[in-house]
Amino acid sequence: MKITFYGHACFGVEVAGQHLLFDPFISGNELAKDIDLETIPADYILLSHGHEDHVLDAEVIAKRTGAKVVSIFEIVSWYGAKGVDGHPMNIGGVWKFPFGTVKFVTANHSSTLPDGSNGGVPGGFVCETAEGNFYFAGDTSLTLDMKLIPITCAPLDFAILPIGDNFTMGFNDAAIAAEWVEAKKVIACHYDTFGYIVVDRDEAKRAFAKRAIDLRFLNIGQTINSKDL
Ligand code: NI
Ligand code: MN
Repeated sequence: MKITFYGHACFGVEVAGQHLLFDPFISGNELAKDIDLETIPADYILLSHGHEDHVLDAEVIAKRTGAKVVSIFEIVSWYGAKGVDGHPMNIGGVWKFPFGTVKFVTANHSSTLPDGSNGGVPGGFVCETAEGNFYFAGDTSLTLDMKLIPITCAPLDFAILPIGDNFTMGFNDAAIAAEWVEAKKVIACHYDTFGYIVVDRDEAKRAFAKRAIDLRFLNIGQTINSKDL
């Protein structure tokens, strides 16, 4: 599968000929100003929670591409009222999509939508596909629920974890999270976008290396094959 980083917590994943797009926040991200919103492909837009730095561009991309929003019931309903098609889930649920199965798992965070509407509770996604399995944590602290992932899901090929601290876990806790979910390869997200979440990349890599886990930083706009992680 191919993974493209669009900045902050936004990733495109191409698997089984389908394009998954996670947490689109591009037009509001100064660091992602070279990304052309108009060309981002999407068949499914997976939203971890309702905060603007995760959903800002979901509506415009969904309307251009016809992509389905996959998220918690409250967020899918909010998009439904805007004429966007969706697939509602809730914590602990698994659904089989054409590209593989998705489990919506616990995240420990908050989730109000940009207009103040109730975004339900935040979540993360475990995706199991014929081309590999991965965990997209969303915004979360380190939480004991992560220990359920290796018990209840197929072994992970990689995880996408927030490391920026202040609003989510920082890299020291994220390294523990990686160990708990049993991911040997981790792609960093939710760092550097705002002043509160600027990280020292070398220090972050060392925190993971101490646990024999490889932390990767992708450039914004970079695409990588999961086999090359
Ligand atoms: Ni958030
Ligand atoms: Mn966030």
